[in-house]
Amino acid sequence: MQRGIVILDFGSQYNQLIGRRVREMGVYSEIVPYYTSVEEIKAKNPFGIILSGGPSSVNVVGAHLISKEIFELGIPILGICYGMQLTAHLLGGVVTKGIKAEYGKADLEIVKTCSLLAGVKEKSIVWMSHFDEVKDVPNGFAIAAKSGAIAAMANEDKKIYCVQFHPEVSHTEEGNKILQNFVLEICRAEKNWELTNYIDRTVAEIKEKVGDQRVILGLSGGVDSSVAAVLIHKAIGDQLTCIFVDTGLLRKDEAQKVMENYGAHFHMNIKHIDASERFLTKLSGIDDPEQKRKIIGNEFVAVFNDEAHKIKGAKFLAQGTIYPDVIESQSVKGPSAVIKSHHNVGGLPEEMELELLEPLRELFKDEVRKVGEELGIPHHLVYRHPFPGPGLGIRVLGAVDAEKVRILQEADDIFIEELYKNDLYEKVSQAFVVLLPVKSVGVMGDERTYEYTAVVRSANTIDFMTATWSKLPYDFLENVSNRIINEVRGINRVAYDISSKPPATIEWE
Ligand code: XMP
Repeated sequence: MQRGIVILDFGSQYNQLIGRRVREMGVYSEIVPYYTSVEEIKAKNPFGIILSGGPSSVNVVGAHLISKEIFELGIPILGICYGMQLTAHLLGGVVTKGIKAEYGKADLEIVKTCSLLAGVKEKSIVWMSHFDEVKDVPNGFAIAAKSGAIAAMANEDKKIYCVQFHPEVSHTEEGNKILQNFVLEICRAEKNWELTNYIDRTVAEIKEKVGDQRVILGLSGGVDSSVAAVLIHKAIGDQLTCIFVDTGLLRKDEAQKVMENYGAHFHMNIKHIDASERFLTKLSGIDDPEQKRKIIGNEFVAVFNDEAHKIKGAKFLAQGTIYPDVIESQSVKGPSAVIKSHHNVGGLPEEMELELLEPLRELFKDEVRKVGEELGIPHHLVYRHPFPGPGLGIRVLGAVDAEKVRILQEADDIFIEELYKNDLYEKVSQAFVVLLPVKSVGVMGDERTYEYTAVVRSANTIDFMTATWSKLPYDFLENVSNRIINEVRGINRVAYDISSKPPATIEWE
């Protein structure tokens, strides 16, 4: 097992960012739930441990606590936000509710420097997000920095450091320096994480594991399954068969593009299954979003299984599972984080007894993209926005039919094309059009029209759990609206969605 920095997850939305920052330094990092036993942590022999932020308070019943033993392992520790409050609480300091929550940018002032803050400017801007604060630091700790509250404390002898702010967030000016001080100077972590090595190592592992057996992979055209496919193909060539299910609910010309981009370009063996009729028939007249999701999910599994069974002698099922999926599946955030059922369509044909092959399991999304580019997948493909499994089935609101899907595909294609043209596509996290089951009156030339309304949606987010609407320029939106209304038969009105998440969600269904 690779040595690295272990991050104990207390549920902060920034945790994956901490993991990525560490890896950007070339050091392996791993995020584990806060209740992971001390024995398990010791077994990983980490260079250092980071206690993450989290929404809990140490002073409530049922607080997310850990064993004090962790501070006695002789392994350097960095507590961030809740991690700082927890350290103070467990080691005899005092944590209270602050007079008011500190949220957003704050001024940090160093009062007594320490190894963690070495080389950090005396005054700088940091990102805060907390209500509780440390009132008294535990014995053996010195106050290292202040903002409104105690902002950093250090026990140099025991190599335990804590910050109330979030060094992993880009708004914290000296954040990288602080994390580097911890990881590279205090922990003296080995630089053992490099993506080129990752490709070579993984290709070798796949060859070794698969031997001369056959592998099946469900290719969606999305980033994860595509990178997984190309990586596996590099290792075992034609022993890989991809199944691409065209649900009829994909973006405009998607099937054709997938076949060109991956089939023709990479010479991969892809079975293109046009199942649009099947899906549309099953969806006919159904307007409940969750029911639509279930129908699409079940149908997908059925089609995929039918095809998988035709591939004789397959021993492995490959999937584009990535590290955030793994973290999510062991999430400490609890059920409130799961708002919609069925975030991933897919399934394992159980009776086929296939073994899983998940070559991207250890990678964050940005690492998957880098690997994709290294493998020769064009930039615009690896930087595509996420697309939900149920596809346009949940973006045509209410009952879905072929005509509505066509109208939506046209409108969506215009919006995406304009985002690319205006260099905005990669400045937003997810953008698409929604078709409302609402008709309104308009006028075109001298004619009265009575057509559908489309909603343009664009969101910016780091983790898709919270999001803000993108502040796209008015001129740009005007152009998108004009083009959609003029070019798409069936739409005579365009609205822009200015709702953030929460309380809205990114998708409309
Ligand atoms: P919401 O709408 O919940 O979306 O704010 C958050 C992210 O999840 C995606 N999403 C889905 N992905 N199956 C998927 O594979 C689904 O049923 C589904 N619903 C939402 C959404 O596109 C966004 O990226």
